[in-house]
Amino acid sequence: MSTAEAGDIKSTVRERYGKAALQAVSGGAKSSCCGGSCGGNADHPITSNLYSATETATLPAEAVLASLGCGNPTALAELHEGEVVLDLGSGGGIDVLLSAQRVGPTGKAYGLDMTDEMLELARANQRKAGVQNVEFLKGDIEAIPLPDASVDVIISNCVVNLSADKRKVITEAYRVLKPGGRFAVSDVVIRGEVPEEVRRSMELWVGCVAGALTEQEFHGLLWEAGFQDIGLEPTRIYEFEDAKAFLSGTGLDADVLAREVGGRVMGAFIRARKP
Ligand SMILES: C[S@@+](CC[C@H](N)C(=O)[O-])C[C@H]1O[C@@H](n2cnc3c(N)ncnc32)[C@H](O)[C@@H]1O
Repeated sequence: MSTAEAGDIKSTVRERYGKAALQAVSGGAKSSCCGGSCGGNADHPITSNLYSATETATLPAEAVLASLGCGNPTALAELHEGEVVLDLGSGGGIDVLLSAQRVGPTGKAYGLDMTDEMLELARANQRKAGVQNVEFLKGDIEAIPLPDASVDVIISNCVVNLSADKRKVITEAYRVLKPGGRFAVSDVVIRGEVPEEVRRSMELWVGCVAGALTEQEFHGLLWEAGFQDIGLEPTRIYEFEDAKAFLSGTGLDADVLAREVGGRVMGAFIRARKP
């Protein structure tokens, strides 16, 4: 991918997620975003029903409404009291707030996001939640603004797929983890191949599908960066009807393509360890 194409992707992603943050606050009109639609996730195959009622009961309603992920990384990450957690692409902050509860007052949860509107929403949610052990940082997941070996656990929820330079994201994650640190990330992943027109669609890139790595690519990038104990578990497989839902409104023939895409796109939990 050329630098210009990567720049286009980043600015489109920033613009769409900026709108999504504003829509989460105002309940305004929906636009295309992760899961097919920003500003409301109740009925989307990718973003709906990710958290238990026990988890959401402890959070500000606005943080829950702004959730645009595709998994529940903190439920799978086994966080411990006193740990430092970093959420790549923290959005409205839902996973940062959940992490902060798990690591307690002796630990810390950082959220990193490039979109000003998302950071504003996340900081407002932090104030509503009344938590001190949280900090939202502005920056790119391809150039993490934290020192080497300063984080125990990297989490992320449906963001690596949005990056135009995933190799950089993984090597940066490796750099900031302490020895023994864990990578515990939810993301959309492809099993097999999807048609080229799906890969080329900017709508589907912003929608967390076109930029998704295959299982082998994700494994390969983690291995190249130096990670060990790499594992990838599907958490939700998007079948024909789900594929039709996220393909519709993209300008592509949803009925035809859903047959080729259904069952090949999944939400997955990816884990690895820095030796
Ligand atoms: C699909 S949303 C997920 C938000 C959050 N993780 C959640 O589960 O609700 C993607 C978020 O990642 C941010 N993002 C996307 N690409 C990024 C990048 N390259 N660097 C930093 N943030 C990025 C967007 O601004 C947006 O807030």
